[in-house]
Amino acid sequence: MISKKMVAAINDQIKAEFDSAFIYLGMSAYFEDSDLPGMAHWMRKQYEEEVEHAEKFMDHLYERGATVKIQEVAKPKEKYDGPLDVFKETLKHEQHVTALIHKLMDLAVEEKDYATQSMLQWFIDEQVEEEASVTAIIKSLELLGGSGGIYMLDRELGRRSGDDD
Ligand code: FEO
Repeated sequence: MISKKMVAAINDQIKAEFDSAFIYLGMSAYFEDSDLPGMAHWMRKQYEEEVEHAEKFMDHLYERGATVKIQEVAKPKEKYDGPLDVFKETLKHEQHVTALIHKLMDLAVEEKDYATQSMLQWFIDEQVEEEASVTAIIKSLELLGGSGGIYMLDRELGRRSGDDD
């Protein structure tokens, strides 16, 4: 049986995933306003992926016979200082999420909750990928620099499909 402490921690993580979703939706709106449709598209996909993460945690609670409590979502930021600023904040945010997932794993290990450990392993792997893909975008932005480079990268990010987690 899943403990109350674990259920509460997972419910908090569900909120964190929805917060992430809205941060990326806000970034998508920022890119739309900045006439960078490719980056706006990339962030919209990121938003959709975060909603899927929240749902994955929700389904785990349902499967374990626990109750999901949907919490209030934080209002995302609206203003950024260009694409590099956005992607640097994205990386910082993903590093924060990675730390949250690791804390959840620590709790699952402490409680000998093997089912939650198994579910969390997917997220641990996912975070490695997320941090790597954002780091690659930051490197490209730093290398390409000026507006011509940003235009090229915008076109490339506009090709992100829905299943390239
Ligand atoms: Fe749900 Fe981007 O981690």
